[in-house]
Amino acid sequence: GGLGQLGTGLAKVLRQKYGKNNVIMSDILKPSKEVVESGPYIFADILDFKCLQEMVVNNRIDWIIHFSALLSAVGEQNVPLAIRVNIEGLHNVMELAKQYRLRIFVPSTIGAFGPESPRNPTPNLCIQRPKTIYGVSKVHGELLGEYYYHKFGLDFRCLRFPGVISSDTNPGGGTTDYAVQIFHDALKTRQFQCYLKPDTRLPMMYITDALRSLCEFMALPPEALKQRTYNVTAMSFTPEEIVKSVQRHVPDLQVSYAPDSRQQIADSWPQVFDDSEARAEWNWKPQYDIDGMVDIMVEALRPKYKN
Ligand SMILES: NC(=O)c1ccc[n+]([C@@H]2O[C@H](COP(=O)([O-])OP(=O)(O)OC[C@H]3O[C@@H](n4cnc5c(N)ncnc54)[C@H](O)[C@@H]3O)[C@@H](O)[C@H]2O)c1
Repeated sequence: GGLGQLGTGLAKVLRQKYGKNNVIMSDILKPSKEVVESGPYIFADILDFKCLQEMVVNNRIDWIIHFSALLSAVGEQNVPLAIRVNIEGLHNVMELAKQYRLRIFVPSTIGAFGPESPRNPTPNLCIQRPKTIYGVSKVHGELLGEYYYHKFGLDFRCLRFPGVISSDTNPGGGTTDYAVQIFHDALKTRQFQCYLKPDTRLPMMYITDALRSLCEFMALPPEALKQRTYNVTAMSFTPEEIVKSVQRHVPDLQVSYAPDSRQQIADSWPQVFDDSEARAEWNWKPQYDIDGMVDIMVEALRPKYKN
C-alpha cells in the first residue's frame, strides 16, 4: 500500500535514512513518473501470497511496512472487499513475516475503538468493540500480531494512529479526511462544507509527526519494547476549532455543516487519545499542535491555489 497517503511520505523519509535503493515501494496502482524516478517500485497485490514471497526473497527484504487497506468510510461501502484486503491481506504479510523472520509494522487506528471504550481519554489498553469493518479488521490485526509475537517470536510492531493530516498526498477515504479537505477548499473557494457536526472532537496528527513516530518505533531494538501496540497522537480538535485556526489565514472562509454517514462513525471513536505509554516507554513526543499544523498546511498549499 506504498502509494497511499502515508506510504508516499514514508518512502521519502526512509530512503533519506537508509538509502534510496534499500527501500522498495509496492502497490497495485500505476506509479507516477516521479515515483518511478524516486527509487525502486514493484507491483504487489497484498492478496497474492506468491507475489509477496517472491518480492521478499528476490530482494532480501528484512522489514515490511504493511499499509494496504480500505479505510473506514470506503470499507463501509464495500464490506467484502474490506474483509479481503484488510483481513486476508494481513494474514498474508503476517505469515510471510513469520516464515522469513521479518520485522513487521502494521498500523492500527483510533477506529479500533468503539462506543463502549472510554472516549476521553482513550487509554492504550481498554475495551475495543469497533462498529466498522475497518475497526474490526484492525483489532484482528493487533490481536493476531501479538499472538504471533508470543507464539512464534515474530517482531510485530503496531502504532494506533489518529487522523493523519498531509498536504502532498490525498487522504484515502477515512472519517477524519475533512481535516485535510478544509485546506484545499479554504484556499480554492473560501467555502467549506463539513460532513461532521461542528463539535465532533477527534484525535489528529500532522504527517511529519506520524512518520517520525513510525521511524523511531521501528528502529528500537526489540528488547526496548514492553508492548507491541501503542497509541500515538499529537492533538485533538473539533471542526469548529480547526475552522477558527484556518481563519487566521483565510479570514473570509465560510463554513456550513451537513453531517452524513461518517458522523455515526466519528461518534463511536475516541475524542482524546491517551498516548502516555508511548511517551513514557520510548520517549514519543509530537512537535505539531493545531496552529503549528495549520500554519504549515497553509504554507504548503497556498502556492497551488494562487491564481
Ligand atoms: N491516513 C490516516 O489518517 C490513517 C490513520 C490511522 C491508520 N491508518 C492506516 O495506515 C495505513 C495507510 O493508510 P493511508 O492513509 O496511506 O491509506 P490510503 O488509502 O491512502 O492507501 C492505501 C493504499 O493501499 C493500496 N491497496 C489497496 N488494495 C491493495 C491490494 N490489494 N494490494 C496492495 N495494495 C493495495 C491502495 O492502492 C492505496 O495506495 C492503513 O492501514 C490505514 O488503516 C491511516
